[in-house]
Amino acid sequence: MRAAEMVGDREIIAALEGDNVYAVTDTNVEKLYPFVFGGVRHFTMKAGEANKNLDTVANIVADMVKRGCNRKTTVIAVGGGVVGDTAGFAAACFMRGVKWINVPTTLLAMVDSGIGGKTGVDVKGYKNVAGAFHLPERVLICSEWLDTLPDREWLCGCGEMVKHALLGADIFEDTRDHLQDLIDGDDEVTERLIEKSVRYKESVVEADFKESGLRKRLNVGHTVGHAVEKADIFRLSHGEYVALGIIAEMTMLKERVPVKFYEEATGMARQVCRNPFPKVSAKEIADIAKADKKNIDGNIVIMLPTGGGEVEEISLTPKEFTERLEKCLSSL
Ligand SMILES: NC(=O)c1ccc[n+]([C@@H]2O[C@H](COP(=O)([O-])OP(=O)(O)OC[C@H]3O[C@@H](n4cnc5c(N)ncnc54)[C@H](O)[C@@H]3O)[C@@H](O)[C@H]2O)c1
Ligand SMILES: [Zn+2]
Repeated sequence: MRAAEMVGDREIIAALEGDNVYAVTDTNVEKLYPFVFGGVRHFTMKAGEANKNLDTVANIVADMVKRGCNRKTTVIAVGGGVVGDTAGFAAACFMRGVKWINVPTTLLAMVDSGIGGKTGVDVKGYKNVAGAFHLPERVLICSEWLDTLPDREWLCGCGEMVKHALLGADIFEDTRDHLQDLIDGDDEVTERLIEKSVRYKESVVEADFKESGLRKRLNVGHTVGHAVEKADIFRLSHGEYVALGIIAEMTMLKERVPVKFYEEATGMARQVCRNPFPKVSAKEIADIAKADKKNIDGNIVIMLPTGGGEVEEISLTPKEFTERLEKCLSSL
């Protein structure tokens, strides 16, 4: 896997001006950066998760045929995770697979969804159920594009960056000490922490490309986070739910985590999500978590960071999960 490159605008424009390229972006990104797409053969999908589906993939593939794309075409995705997942999957399907380049433009896409070659779309409301592992040739990250990112999307990326920091021993301290600068959008800190977060995710993907073991650790905060996100009907950004999930999961299993690390980790998550824990019952969270495709034998799995880059995989029966969560819910 080729490492993601931290670049400026010029490298992105140069890639888009390459031979036989076909770009995919979304309506928001095109409106904000129209000069990037001038003269470039491209498809603009409607922004938003609701459009990450097979219809959009079909429209991209048909447009590629119409506009003379062939086996040598390189697809360039310019956008957030929705564009990257959809365009990457279209590239995996078109003529049984063509090359693609990913240009992530949200913080989440830069540090998370853009790294690792997982592409795919939602089908009839089921998230990410049709997809392919298809590594991009290059990932070009230009943090200047983040200047236009709304606050909600900024916090979304910060949540995943805190997760990476809890997992990567060598990025923990820098992220802990400069998290507020990151949240406030300090350019220098942002650029540095993005690169560290990217390198961490790359190291995990490199060791476990097809998600058979190590990559599972990236689910920290997501067992409770995903369930609350659903139950709370996506009121906050995904990353904020991940932050709330980190707090809840670590509190549920507090006796297994060194006190200092618990305080630091939950403190960092609180910096990202200042909202109170949504009014959702432990039973409701457990019911949603139970249905997660990653669970084995009907148990609910939590990936628990314990400091120094260590992670424990904890399997709880739905009853144990509900009881533990119920006990700590009022303190979250
Ligand atoms: N493939 C993976 O491994 C992986 C991992 C995590 C998440 N994901 C997927 O990523 C998706 C979420 O990605 P996301 O959070 O980037 O959402 P997104 O792509 O919907 O982008 C969020 C919003 O920001 C806008 N936007 C994008 N770039 C912008 C910019 N520079 N300035 C201003 N606005 C901009 C978009 O138009 C959109 O409205 C989900 O579909 C999720 O399933 C995939
Ligand atoms: Zn996530």
